[in-house]
Amino acid sequence: NTYVVIMAGGVGTRFWPFSRTSYPKQFHDVLGTGRTLLQQTADRFKGICPHEQIFIVTSSLYKDLCQQQLPQLSDDQILCEPIARNTAPCIAYACYKIAQRDPQANIVVAPADHIILKEEEFQRTIQTALKATQNNDILVTLGIQPSRPDTGYGYIQYIPDGDSESGEQVKKVKTFTEKPHLELAQQFLDSGEFVWNAGIFVWNAQAIIRAFETHLPEVAEIFAEGNDTYYTDQEEAFIDKAYSLTRSISIDNGVMEKAKNVYVVLSDFGWSDLGTWKSLYEVSDKNEDFNVIDGHIILYDTRNCIIKTPKDRLVVVNGLDGFIVAEYDNVLMICRKEEEQKVKNFVADAKERG
Ligand code: GDD
Ligand code: MG
Repeated sequence: NTYVVIMAGGVGTRFWPFSRTSYPKQFHDVLGTGRTLLQQTADRFKGICPHEQIFIVTSSLYKDLCQQQLPQLSDDQILCEPIARNTAPCIAYACYKIAQRDPQANIVVAPADHIILKEEEFQRTIQTALKATQNNDILVTLGIQPSRPDTGYGYIQYIPDGDSESGEQVKKVKTFTEKPHLELAQQFLDSGEFVWNAGIFVWNAQAIIRAFETHLPEVAEIFAEGNDTYYTDQEEAFIDKAYSLTRSISIDNGVMEKAKNVYVVLSDFGWSDLGTWKSLYEVSDKNEDFNVIDGHIILYDTRNCIIKTPKDRLVVVNGLDGFIVAEYDNVLMICRKEEEQKVKNFVADAKERG
């Protein structure tokens, strides 16, 4: 019996000003397809499990947005967090709750803000992962061939042959390094032995519970205590208390880096983490001057730019090369594409100035 948990509680600050605390990127139709990233994520799992078995974990601030965008889900499929505590508590909440009703559950955990171009290949990969995890005490993650020494990802070193759990694609993981610094990322890339962690996880309920008990026992203890309250009207009060007790930690740092029973499914499904402006630039269609434009825009002598502005405002640009020009909800940002890592600082400063 398969369940899907969609993590949709991030605020996506590197995508500012388009992604805002009040309206993060997963709730936007980023690619102009008519479906938001969250909707696309839910659509993607149609063939994997019935929609009654999809859970969204998000901030209580975004409950209404989730309901509006996914009207087919009932209220109790949207798990609300009172405060953000990163992905480990988010996953613990969902997995303990699912396990309480269905101890034999198989669970796929996915972020709400990625794009996947080859949907069929994605489904096949998930099925491979589900087959591997069904009766095994293992944690499976999906691995993507890296193309640059990106420091925003987890890096997975796997054992090329030998101890494969099932089939060719599934490899035993030797090391898992979350967000290495640039030099290390470059070494990983050069060695050819590493793949990126796509941030999509597959396991059975008992395997992830055991992993929490072993590597994050305090988190395990907190969420196991909720077993009498899940699916009752005491759940909300319990969760408020649980989140005030739990620390903030990602599943990658808290579990995946430490666990010994991790496997990776080598994957190729046109994956992109739409984490930053550059990543959106890379996956979007470009005009003859390599500009990505979305809005009411006239360009002169402008190339290699990404320009995304409201349709009700005419934007005229002359002589820009390699810039991000982004306007959303009363904020206009103009920033060199190569310096987009500064966007996080802009957000902090802009907050201060109000
Ligand atoms: N509900 C909830 N609560 N969701 C959260 C929270 C939280 O507190 N924090 C983050 N999320 C959601 C985000 O919205 C996103 O969909 C997903 O969880 C992953 O969080 P990110 O903050 O985007 O993680 P990351 O991109 O820095 O790193 C992860 O993903 C990379 C691939 O995109 C890691 O798993 C890396 O190892 C991986 O390479
Ligand atoms: Mg991310």
